[in-house]
Amino acid sequence: MSAERGIAVVGGGSGALGRAVAVRLVADGFAVVVAARRPPDPDVPGALFVPCNLGVPADVEALAAQVGAQGRWAAAVNASGGYSGDLGHRVSEDDRAAGLDVNLLGPWRLAAAAARAMEEQGGGGGIVNVIGRAAVEVAAGQAVYQVAKTGLLRLTEVMAAELREAGITVNAVLPSIMDTPLNRRMMPDADFSRWVPVERVAAAVSWLLSPEADQVSGAAVPVYGRA
Ligand SMILES: NC(=O)c1ccc[n+]([C@@H]2O[C@H](COP(=O)([O-])OP(=O)(O)OC[C@H]3O[C@@H](n4cnc5c(N)ncnc54)[C@H](OP(=O)(O)O)[C@@H]3O)[C@@H](O)[C@H]2O)c1
Repeated sequence: MSAERGIAVVGGGSGALGRAVAVRLVADGFAVVVAARRPPDPDVPGALFVPCNLGVPADVEALAAQVGAQGRWAAAVNASGGYSGDLGHRVSEDDRAAGLDVNLLGPWRLAAAAARAMEEQGGGGGIVNVIGRAAVEVAAGQAVYQVAKTGLLRLTEVMAAELREAGITVNAVLPSIMDTPLNRRMMPDADFSRWVPVERVAAAVSWLLSPEADQVSGAAVPVYGRA
């Protein structure tokens, strides 16, 4: 793969936001790799789909090897995740493990693989974690999701500090409710015009990966719109 800005991997690039991020990063001049269990639908023109279950460490290693064989790993975006409702004192072992894996450990695996590659390339590059307002506003009934998202926010800050000398930026975006097909189905009576378009969240990601933002690291950017 060759594109002027190097390779950008979008974890969860088959999702509502991830696909919008992939489209945006192709337009920005990255060679985009979509990493998810299923391909984006519709396809993202110009992007390469690599099947990857972020819950499986060997899949992430294989992804990293494939990216390394194709060029310079310049950017990684974690747009994977999944909401679940539960109570901290009632959640089952299985649901807790699954929620932590999809919202924290999977993104951690991808961010770590990207950072190692960027260091080995001599430094430089950008990582953006899509987190959400849940990391900064307490709400009852979503214990695992909140713990995972808060953990990912702290990981963003820690990795930003650890990678500063290498010129690798690590930032987060915190969307509120996004205008996605699933949210429209789940909340049919809501005023959709108040929700944040996924393209606007993708634009914030794009800016954090742009040369103009190369001094910005450890930031958590709220993208709340009117939601
Ligand atoms: N929707 C909202 O209003 C909202 C608000 C705030 C924050 N967020 C956060 O924003 C992110 C994107 O949300 P969204 O609405 O676009 O979600 P979505 O449409 O449900 O997409 C989730 C993505 O995660 C991927 N994924 C899940 N498990 C995976 C695994 N084990 N390995 C690889 N990929 C995996 C899915 O791909 P596969 O199933 O193909 O693997 C899919 O591409 C999530 O982190 C979410 O928590 C969403």
